[in-house]
Amino acid sequence: MEGDKWMNLLITGGAGYIGSHTVVRLLESGYDVVIVDNYMNSKPEVIKRIERITEKRIKVYEVDLRDSVALEQVFCENHFDGVIHFAGLKAVGESVDFPLDYYDNNVVGTLVLLKVMEKCQVQNIVFSSSATVYGDKNQSPLVETMPLSTTNPYGTTKWMIEEMIKDVTYANPNWSAVNLRYFNPIGAHPSGMIGEDPNGIPNNLMPYITQVAIGKRDYLSVFGNDYDTIDGTGVRDYIHVMDLAEGHLKAFDYTLKHKGCHVFNLGTGKGHSVLEVIRFFEKATKTQIPYQIEKRRPGDIATCYASVNKAEKDLKWKAKFDMFKMCEDAWRWQSKNPNGFE
Ligand code: NAD
Ligand code: UD1
Repeated sequence: MEGDKWMNLLITGGAGYIGSHTVVRLLESGYDVVIVDNYMNSKPEVIKRIERITEKRIKVYEVDLRDSVALEQVFCENHFDGVIHFAGLKAVGESVDFPLDYYDNNVVGTLVLLKVMEKCQVQNIVFSSSATVYGDKNQSPLVETMPLSTTNPYGTTKWMIEEMIKDVTYANPNWSAVNLRYFNPIGAHPSGMIGEDPNGIPNNLMPYITQVAIGKRDYLSVFGNDYDTIDGTGVRDYIHVMDLAEGHLKAFDYTLKHKGCHVFNLGTGKGHSVLEVIRFFEKATKTQIPYQIEKRRPGDIATCYASVNKAEKDLKWKAKFDMFKMCEDAWRWQSKNPNGFE
């Protein structure tokens, strides 16, 4: 919050996994929010849950970002001090099969959003980028200044959007933008009322583990144990979604004080192997996770973790929660909601 000034933020994709947790933190911190979401990968039930957690009412527009007329109407009906832009498709494999859907939804959606923002003179944006823009050539810890490359259409949309946002800030010095490169968000709100609710078979490690623990899946496939890592399995920088949410508050605050385009990694700076995650999960939740070692998943890299120096120094943000807490909270969400938001 900027002094005593009341802030109202537009949250695109606010019904999604990371958006919903960030909305909770924003409401708890005194921000007003308006959500735009077309529910293509979320359910209206999440809004009720956020309202129960925060005891606040939220204004939601069921609008597709690419619908410029409807989006402009949202801007006409509300005054916004800035936008936190989560809306997008995020499944790597799907993006390889349906690249045009990804370019259309992610890139065109953002283009429409930026145009409407420019027209309505809302010039502060925080964007959900991804560590995937570091590609497969850089050595961890990954630093914001490293050269970028991508290995799939999803990653390319993130890279393209970062470039688009940067160009907008170059062209108009009134703009302030922060591109946040998330590492691997996991966990859930400590209430267990909101969390990650993947459609179908989960692609990512933690939702797969929680579904094994609840008995929906028989065992976890561990994709490769012959990487050059401590135990041969892939190493990633897992970050609690509530830490990530907090990072967005800091990032928005940063846009109020700094013009131009800025990039920050949001990770813990620590890597955990797949087998370590399984052990943490079993200990934190007193469950058993049967697993089988299988061949490597195409496109995976051995190790990926963040350099967190820039976020610590400039955003004054640091992840607080450890793997134990991430597992506990992920499990509370899954065990209280075996079928997600259904
Ligand atoms: P999510 O799918 O849970 O949330 C995205 C939300 O955006 C959904 O509610 C969906 O319905 C909505 N949406 C999508 N396209 C839309 C459109 N055209 N118009 C309106 N609403 C639309 O995903 P998430 O995990 O919360 O991720 C949020 C953002 O962070 C995404 O941009 C994602 O690419 C990025 N990101 C996620 C991860 C991750 O592991 N979850 C990692 C790095 C980056
Ligand atoms: C994936 C995406 C990446 C995205 C990130 C965060 C791919 C190829 N990459 O990264 O673009 O930014 O999610 O959302 O999808 N694993 C198993 N068994 C499983 C699932 C995963 O062993 O059933 C392993 C993987 O091989 C990897 C680790 O667990 O070593 C983490 O995998 P995952 O959760 O899918 O995240 P990333 O691959 O890091």
